[in-house]
Amino acid sequence: MATPRLSPAQERALLADYRRRLEACVPWSEVTAWAPELNVQAATYDVAPPFADVLMSDAPVDDLRPTEHVDSPRGTFRYCHRLHPRGRPLLTWWGRQTGTVIFDRDVAIPALFQARADAGSGGGPRFPGSPWMSLTPAEFLTLEPGTRIAKGRVVIAGLGLGHQLVAVSRRFQVKKLTLVERSRELVEWLMPALAPRLRKPVEVIVDDAYAALPKLKADVALVDIFPRYGEAGPAMAELRRRCRGIKRMWGWGE
Ligand SMILES: C[S@@+](CC[C@H](N)C(=O)[O-])C[C@H]1O[C@@H](n2cnc3c(N)ncnc32)[C@H](O)[C@@H]1O
Repeated sequence: MATPRLSPAQERALLADYRRRLEACVPWSEVTAWAPELNVQAATYDVAPPFADVLMSDAPVDDLRPTEHVDSPRGTFRYCHRLHPRGRPLLTWWGRQTGTVIFDRDVAIPALFQARADAGSGGGPRFPGSPWMSLTPAEFLTLEPGTRIAKGRVVIAGLGLGHQLVAVSRRFQVKKLTLVERSRELVEWLMPALAPRLRKPVEVIVDDAYAALPKLKADVALVDIFPRYGEAGPAMAELRRRCRGIKRMWGWGE
């Protein structure tokens, strides 16, 4: 199929819009709200990554140098800082809506890759092209509504990069914090790195959330164990039915 060509007027309009967005960049902050167009000053995108010293790179994840990644002890996970280029739109989501964010400089996006199930056989790449979890503006914005309702005894299902766990631990309304995560390797590797930023002790349960949550008593459970945004509805309905000891349940992207 032939590549569609832009007319000179369309090219000028696109360039003008690109410049307008770069000049409209504002600081990122904890209170940044979703909008279809977000233009952010990269220097303010301080996401307190778990491994702060890792250098950013846009090289393929398999080819990163030792200074550009940290691997989990058994090699299942690789943590790195993906270089996201100045001005390049990055997708955001909010309910059924989508939008984009751009940064006025290259920015480091913390990302976690999980090795392919068939890694090691056949000499192909060890890691897939897309991260398993990354700390993009969309992730922050869509986790925030859950974090905001955390109070009393709180259960968090799904560690990921620990962003929500840390944010919830900092809320004075939260009295007791329990994490349910199915990957022991992830817990044993990441929790020590997160410890300096956690403001409360965390009880850790390594188990499947669908098995563990119905046995727990809590005021709020924040469940982020779903692979894609917007697909949590049926699983959350089922969890709510089975979790009689949990007063309020929030699911990411529900
Ligand atoms: C998208 S990440 C969570 C991100 C996290 N909210 C954060 O702030 O970084 C999903 C996590 O859920 C875990 N997980 C997925 N399915 C699970 C299950 N059935 N039970 C427990 N943990 C699960 C994964 O291992 C992963 O750590």
